[in-house]
Amino acid sequence: MKILITAGPTREYIDDVRFLSNGSSGKMGYSIADECLKKGHAVKLISGPVQLSAPEGVDLVRVVSAEEMFAAVKENLRWCEVLVMCAAVADFKPADGVAGKIKKSSMPLDLKLQPNPDILKGISDQKEDRVFVGFAAESGDPVDSARIKLSEKNLDMIVANDVSRPDAGFEVDTNKIVIIDNKGLVKDLPVMSKRDAAVEIVDWIDSCRD
Ligand code: CTP
Repeated sequence: MKILITAGPTREYIDDVRFLSNGSSGKMGYSIADECLKKGHAVKLISGPVQLSAPEGVDLVRVVSAEEMFAAVKENLRWCEVLVMCAAVADFKPADGVAGKIKKSSMPLDLKLQPNPDILKGISDQKEDRVFVGFAAESGDPVDSARIKLSEKNLDMIVANDVSRPDAGFEVDTNKIVIIDNKGLVKDLPVMSKRDAAVEIVDWIDSCRD
């Protein structure tokens, strides 16, 4: 299958040197890309800034901001049969970008934020018969919030994780995920490496073909 994956964080620049972002390492999305390749799928990876090299054979599209990621997803959506939105998209961006470097002397700084577009909501009317997979990054039990996102974002499956756990979520090598799909599956998996979590996620994707 043709699988489009987003990974990593986005950066929203405040001035030429500072940005708002989050601690996403990109490891989960890159592991999914790797596993998809091993299973013989064609993979395009839209990645925010991360310290990882793309698996050989992946068509890599680098982006920085949420708006750039949104544009890249729209541009490549028609190509894919499956979209996996693993990226930790920054929900807010500075309302007024400043050219140059803000001087200390301008403190206190009144930083106004505005919302970024929701990528999944923005493309849901172009879903057609594509399979859409999302992630839910929650603090605390992720299942109820993930179910709401599954429905509101028109997804076929969502990977719920509690990013407040030390052994799950951003920056660590392990994850504790619950796979929830729109047919009633709730698969609560134990803590495992992100590689093994990727195997579970890609197994679910492969099961869509059956
Ligand atoms: N997502 C997106 N566009 C955004 C934010 C998130 O497409 N601007 C996607 C993520 O890639 C993920 C899913 O939506 O697949 C859920 O993201 P999450 O951060 O858990 O939730 P939000 O929708 O941002 O809502 P909240 O932060 O209020 O929990």
